[in-house]
Amino acid sequence: MTTTNAVRAEEARPAETSWRTVEPLATCRAALQRRPFLARHPLGEHPLFTIEALTKVAEAASQRHGDLWADAGDLSLTDKWGTTPAPDMPIPQLIDRIETAGAWIVMKHVEVDPRYKEILDGYEAFVRSVAAPEASARLTSPEMLVFMTSPRRKTPYHFDAEMNFIVQIHGAKDVWVCDPNDRSVTTEREIEEYYGKTISAGTYKPHAEEVAQKFTLRPGDALHVPSHAAHWVQNHDSVSVTLSLNMEYSHWRCADVYFANYHLRRLGLSPKPPGRAPLADAAKGAAVGALRVAKKTAQRALGR
Ligand SMILES: [Fe+2]
Repeated sequence: MTTTNAVRAEEARPAETSWRTVEPLATCRAALQRRPFLARHPLGEHPLFTIEALTKVAEAASQRHGDLWADAGDLSLTDKWGTTPAPDMPIPQLIDRIETAGAWIVMKHVEVDPRYKEILDGYEAFVRSVAAPEASARLTSPEMLVFMTSPRRKTPYHFDAEMNFIVQIHGAKDVWVCDPNDRSVTTEREIEEYYGKTISAGTYKPHAEEVAQKFTLRPGDALHVPSHAAHWVQNHDSVSVTLSLNMEYSHWRCADVYFANYHLRRLGLSPKPPGRAPLADAAKGAAVGALRVAKKTAQRALGR
């Protein structure tokens, strides 16, 4: 069976003509950034997301610094990002062998190609139609990532800063998502460490499997994953192509407070999480902002 035939085997759902929520719009508006919910998308049959088209996208991403990640191996939920070895073969060859390679290929900033930017624009319009006006005003920086994944491959437990929709194009996968505000799952210290030290700060906890919601995504399905919601993925038996469509949600404000808290805690203090003390949040934001400006000024002065 060719790769193209393999990924088409699970395409059974009738094609959608536009983005839509599954639950009523008002329900999803209230749920945005608070809990996961399902949507449907019109991209399943789109010619820009065939394996052939995405091979070219991957080759283009490999020419941009940091925009292509590939690894191969048998992962467990507890593994961390970056601990799996990179495959020892060129990307087109890896894609050609993806049915058996145990691989995960990530293409970032796919929207630099105007044809994909147009698709991202359609997603952004959908998200802004779901968000309340004040929430829409806080959303910035839309970004398209493409994941190509071998059969049965896992994506380990983690959380992200961005507000995200996981958009299933080919194949099927199970996705588990936790409550973004459950601090027994995504702890305050992990979020501080995420912004202050490493994006791999999320650490697997067995009880997360008891409290997570499980979703099975097939072509045409999309799943909203709020910022800081721990999640993990199990691919089904065929090659999967998935988009990760992200937007930042007042990212810099939240990130700056957590960054400050990370360093305050290292000094032996017990800082309050964002939102509990608005004056302290403003002071932390101003301090981190001033540091950022000072760093840029110093770099300019040193000619870097
Ligand atoms: Fe993620």
